[in-house]
Amino acid sequence: MEQSFQFVLLEQSFQYYMMKRFQGQTVVITGGNSGIGFATAKAFKEQGAQVIITGRSAEKVEEAASKLGVNGVVADVADLSQLDSLVEQVQGAYGQVDVLFVNAGIFVLEPVGAISEQNFDDLMDINFKGAVFTTEKFLPVLKDGAAIIALSSIAAYTGSPNLAIYSASKAALNSYVRTAAIELSKRNIRINAVNPGPTSTPIFQKLGFPEEQTALIKDHAKSQIPLGKLGEPTDIAELVTFLASSSASFITGGEFNIDGGMLIKT
Ligand SMILES: NC(=O)c1ccc[n+]([C@@H]2O[C@H](COP(=O)([O-])OP(=O)(O)OC[C@H]3O[C@@H](n4cnc5c(N)ncnc54)[C@H](OP(=O)(O)O)[C@@H]3O)[C@@H](O)[C@H]2O)c1
Repeated sequence: MEQSFQFVLLEQSFQYYMMKRFQGQTVVITGGNSGIGFATAKAFKEQGAQVIITGRSAEKVEEAASKLGVNGVVADVADLSQLDSLVEQVQGAYGQVDVLFVNAGIFVLEPVGAISEQNFDDLMDINFKGAVFTTEKFLPVLKDGAAIIALSSIAAYTGSPNLAIYSASKAALNSYVRTAAIELSKRNIRINAVNPGPTSTPIFQKLGFPEEQTALIKDHAKSQIPLGKLGEPTDIAELVTFLASSSASFITGGEFNIDGGMLIKT
């Protein structure tokens, strides 16, 4: 009886800790109007943070920000002047930043031999250059001891058909994260990469294929995952919030696969 009372107390204090673990912290999430960014913004907000989300579409940013009860700023990560303006707005409204989630990204399928310059530039500009300069531009307003999480992909390690340039953009990002982890350790800033496998978000619809073909692509992805399901955005949010929290204070320069076992399946 007494034991179960203690258990309830323990459970309640754990729940209280989880509700408050980002209390008073400022968290910036690029690409927070959809999918993984949206779910992560929700999680940070529920755990006490003040959250700023971004995206290119003013309408989508506004709608998501009002649903989440957070602030939204329109900024294209591929445009360095828009990143400057984002940093200025965040600093003006909140001062310094505790957590930066570098999440914005696009997904394009193209076979080797038919890679277009436009898609190459878009993938590299958003997924690599955009992610790098989001980090670079925010560094002056990050607190010493801040956490940065870069959303990469297990594609950084695979030779999956049609993903040559997408994979290259994420592999390049992971490489930047490793060097940044060493250099930023002087300020006790931790930076880690999260590598999801296929996760159920609107990114698949954005490929622009007919609905049945999109469903086939998702089914094929699912068939390659030992756990037999796609990831959910909330699965990724759990890992991102953990890496941002003080529970991960000895973790930097790491890469965390979250893929239902897909990468190690031979
Ligand atoms: N879903 C998966 O299977 C999967 C797997 C591995 C890795 N990832 C990575 O996870 C991240 C999030 O993707 P998601 O699956 O959540 O896709 P999503 O639902 O399409 O969300 C992508 C987000 O990025 C934003 N975005 C795209 N280009 C941008 C730009 N130039 N500037 C600012 N924001 C931009 C989008 O907003 P706007 O359209 O308004 O700009 C949107 O908010 C991406 O980096 C993706 O590569 C996804």
